[in-house]
Amino acid sequence: MTVHSNVLDMIGNTPVVETTAFDTGPCRLFLKLENQNPGGSIKDRPALTMVEAAEKSGAIGPGGTLVEATAGNTGLGLALVARQKGYRLLLVIPDKMSQEKIFNLQAMGAEVLLTRSDVGKGHPEYYQDMAQRIAAETGNSVFVNQFGNEANPLAHETGTGPELWDQTGRDLDAVVCGVGSGGTITGLGRFFRKVNPALEMVLADPEGSVLADYVNTGEIGPLGSWLVEGIGEDFIPDVSDLSLVSRAYTVPDREAFLTARRLLRDEGILAGSSSGTLIAGALAYCRDQTGPKNVATFVCDSGNKYLSKMYNDYWMLDQGFLERERHGDLRDLIARSHADGAAVTVRPEDTLATALSRMKLYDVSQLPVLDGEDRAVGIIDESDILWAVHHEHESFQGGVASAMSANLETVERTAGVEALIPIFRRDLTAVVVDGDAFLGVVTRIDLLNRLRRGLRETS
Ligand SMILES: Cc1ncc(COP(=O)(O)O)c(C=O)c1O
Repeated sequence: MTVHSNVLDMIGNTPVVETTAFDTGPCRLFLKLENQNPGGSIKDRPALTMVEAAEKSGAIGPGGTLVEATAGNTGLGLALVARQKGYRLLLVIPDKMSQEKIFNLQAMGAEVLLTRSDVGKGHPEYYQDMAQRIAAETGNSVFVNQFGNEANPLAHETGTGPELWDQTGRDLDAVVCGVGSGGTITGLGRFFRKVNPALEMVLADPEGSVLADYVNTGEIGPLGSWLVEGIGEDFIPDVSDLSLVSRAYTVPDREAFLTARRLLRDEGILAGSSSGTLIAGALAYCRDQTGPKNVATFVCDSGNKYLSKMYNDYWMLDQGFLERERHGDLRDLIARSHADGAAVTVRPEDTLATALSRMKLYDVSQLPVLDGEDRAVGIIDESDILWAVHHEHESFQGGVASAMSANLETVERTAGVEALIPIFRRDLTAVVVDGDAFLGVVTRIDLLNRLRRGLRETS
């Protein structure tokens, strides 16, 4: 074990583990754990090589500014490198990106400039064009431009590739990659063409992206949408050389997410969503083989950024990626079922402070109030708490019973969806019951989610 003198020295030299939990047909499947990089992803590597190339060419000098258009892992990698090397980093980010990502980048010292997400290439406020313009107008600055920067694939040609080759005993038959900028697949393709021209470079692409079709047919097919983050494109990035790729597998979001969840449960590896796509694609490749082959793919980033999405059962259910037991009645619309112990509730004797902190914790604006027999006796929302406490601070210690509304909108589980509409029209929440027993609440968003997934008759 060595002691590193700087966090940048810890980029690369990531470990490889052989997967044992999945059916790999006649093949062995190795995972290179790029989530172990200090910035948490494979993008630390090109972030470092792109900055070093800018330094070497004289494009940037001490006190300079790096400009890039990304809210993703490249931004995190650049933030790490910029801070350690003493550069200012300006990231231009479309305004649809999550607050979480922006907080993360700002906490690492990056300056974030939000721009419109509803404009396309060629518009002055399009994030790529804007980053390029800012760099051109700023002295001692460089537009990093991962999509067109040759130092991006170079990181993988000189780093990731040789490491993987040595780690697998120089006995590797196929490597499965995703494409965001194309840096990884291109750099690895160039390296392996030199050391083992028979090695197959394989693309794993989210369903909806145009890249898999392009590899398999040479044509750009119809564009769709996908939820996996970091890979898949609606264009062929300049820096990518897809002629190095011999075949492509298309992976639907559902398969990617379920694969990543299984990787965590069965192998203890907390991977990001794109790793699910890559591993699912690699498994399909493995199972297509008739003889033994050594195959490698990547855990590209850590799953900690996705805890509230693909690692959250409720999100997975909302998206229709997990199936719940069907009852054929209003129980099918309850997001958090009381019978499963998942409903968020309060008791009449709880304090208003407890009710408020529970609302904040679960990000809900009202709570059903249950008595000792698990009967719904009321409902309390933010307004009820506000009216109760706005005179005196002490009343946060007051009981829920005195502030809640006892006027409940209950519906029997066997009532039809139509029974919900008049309740929602009055901006209220439906409390679903089976006789006296509380089953859960149904809100407008629950019904909307259900309608979006295709409503099955419940009445
Ligand atoms: C999260 C994430 N970002 C980006 C990429 C793609 O990298 P590149 O930009 O090198 O194509 C991957 C790779 O598979 C990835 O998983």
